[in-house]
Amino acid sequence: MRLDKLLAHCGFGTRKEVKDIIKKGYVSVNNQIVKKDKTQVDPTKDEIKVDDEKVVYEEFVYYMLNKPAGYVSATEDALYPTVVELIGDYYRDDLFPVGRLDIDTEGLLILTNDGILAHQLLSPKNHCPKKYYAKIKGIVNENDIKIFFDGVIIDNDYKCQSAYLKILSSDIENSEVEIIIYEGKFHQIKKMFKAVGKEVIYLKRICMKNLALDDTLTLGSYRRLTSEELDRLKDKSVLQ
Ligand code: URA
Repeated sequence: MRLDKLLAHCGFGTRKEVKDIIKKGYVSVNNQIVKKDKTQVDPTKDEIKVDDEKVVYEEFVYYMLNKPAGYVSATEDALYPTVVELIGDYYRDDLFPVGRLDIDTEGLLILTNDGILAHQLLSPKNHCPKKYYAKIKGIVNENDIKIFFDGVIIDNDYKCQSAYLKILSSDIENSEVEIIIYEGKFHQIKKMFKAVGKEVIYLKRICMKNLALDDTLTLGSYRRLTSEELDRLKDKSVLQ
């Protein structure tokens, strides 16, 4: 890859700033100063230094974000801030969210530049479980548990896959529930509750496959996935 692109990806500045650093002779490749920003380098083989600091390149990165309401799960948006803008120490332009949470939904969102992992987690044929905590206007009851398990109908004629609903608490006005779904249709959980005459008033994703939201992450904060979490997430033999 081009030397200026590599340095920008590794956080040494914007493309324009790194071109300047290179031109001024601060950058060496295999102990030779290079002044051409177009120089082709192989970050897995070449030793690249900026002012004696070794450049460490990672091909793939993985973050866990506690998404706040008000951010769209996209890389660009004309109206609202996007979830990638919350990742402050990331300098590359290839980061994207794995799937979508609605603008008003909070909780676990994985951001990566690894398209293969994203595909594995999102492909409907892999039935990746996603667990949510929700507050519902109305009394959720045993009948709803059965309807969700049997497959609730949304969008007039779409029968959802079996979903697991657990009632945490219920009073005259609101209920608190946990729900596990194995697909990711647009507004799916809101539509499922609407189908049984109820309204979701708060929604938060707490688990995806076998990865739980780190409850020390405050809304809007994020951290890298540990290698153990990543191994579990990539493990094709495990679903939950
Ligand atoms: N279901 C929804 O309705 N919204 C989300 O953000 C996720 C699942």
